[in-house]
Amino acid sequence: MATASGLEGVLVAETELSDVDGERGRLVLAGHDVESLAGKTPFERMCAMLWREDEAGVRARLGEARARAFAEIRRVDGALAAANGMDALRGSLGQLASQGDAADVATLTGAIAVYAAAWARRRAGQKPLAPDASASHASDYLRMARVAPGAPPAELSREMDTYLVTVSDHGLNASTFTARVVASTAADVVSAIVAAVGALKGPLHGGAPGPVLDMLDAIGAPERARAWIEAELGAGRRIMGMGHRIYRVRDPRAAVFEAAVERLEKAGVTSGRLALARSVEREAEAVLKERHPDRPLRANVEFFTAVLLEALGLPREAFSPTFAVGRVAGWCAHVLEQRRVGKLIRPASRYVGPAPVAS
Ligand code: COA
Repeated sequence: MATASGLEGVLVAETELSDVDGERGRLVLAGHDVESLAGKTPFERMCAMLWREDEAGVRARLGEARARAFAEIRRVDGALAAANGMDALRGSLGQLASQGDAADVATLTGAIAVYAAAWARRRAGQKPLAPDASASHASDYLRMARVAPGAPPAELSREMDTYLVTVSDHGLNASTFTARVVASTAADVVSAIVAAVGALKGPLHGGAPGPVLDMLDAIGAPERARAWIEAELGAGRRIMGMGHRIYRVRDPRAAVFEAAVERLEKAGVTSGRLALARSVEREAEAVLKERHPDRPLRANVEFFTAVLLEALGLPREAFSPTFAVGRVAGWCAHVLEQRRVGKLIRPASRYVGPAPVAS
């Protein structure tokens, strides 16, 4: 049997949660095209669809979960001191394991927002803000995570929902697969989510949007894009925010986020990045096409994530943790789905080491 390096093209699960069509650039979340959800669907409704629950119940449970996480935030103080936000999330969420079965999907989803926000404020030298259990999850997260004082304008909260809903699930990406593998061993949901956070940290997965912003900073002006990209590739580095394992066309989430940033710019909330980002995307695509004529390398979700989250007033170090705040909905749904399947995930490897020494 041939080995499938990186499990590329290998089907290992059936899911009702999301469908990624890489040839047509179509993403379906719980039976809806992502474009029909983004900007219209609150995160709570998305969670309800993914978790097979009712929206009002999810809203109430998420609000309570945020309040509970904040009430006990001192317990995770040490973990939140970590320099990297994903390390902080892993450490703080890990402590929920002591709650056993009481740490359900809403508890985790509420807690991850509170911890990610508290970490972002802390690294800016500010005290964490208490959640408002009656607010929407997206607006509460944004208010708690931003360094700017006061409630964020409604347009920003709406686009925070756009972001969280759009990234809530995406087939068997690396972190979701990780969560399913852990869940398949019958381990608790906290262990599955903590493992997924670890997988999301990597720059080939959820760690890319901060470096995308660094790239836009380094390029500075459209006319410098080509030379910068060529130098980067010449040095053997990859262009962050470009390429995808599944998509052979532009990632549909890039268009969703690009439209969100456009709406913000029209509303007068401007990060001033959109024009530069578009030119850099064009140049990067062109240069990558010259080098890889047979492998389309187009913008992925992280490219415009960077532009959107910056426009929402979040610091770049908080981009990956914010990804986790949205993706946790899908991780939890996959854990629940995997439990229904009830089969251990355990692939095989081909031994290519030395032959056993004759004794
Ligand atoms: N910049 C430059 N070259 C890239 C590239 C990028 N962003 N993405 C892929 N390539 C090249 C690889 O070097 C490889 O070239 P080779 O065949 O000459 O060795 C070829 O394209 C195939 O790449 P491979 O790593 O085998 O594809 P993959 O499906 O395993 O990788 C990603 C997918 C996402 C890991 C990859 O595109 C990447 O590293 N992108 C940058 C990081 C990023 O934006 N991550 C967020 C993903 S949502």
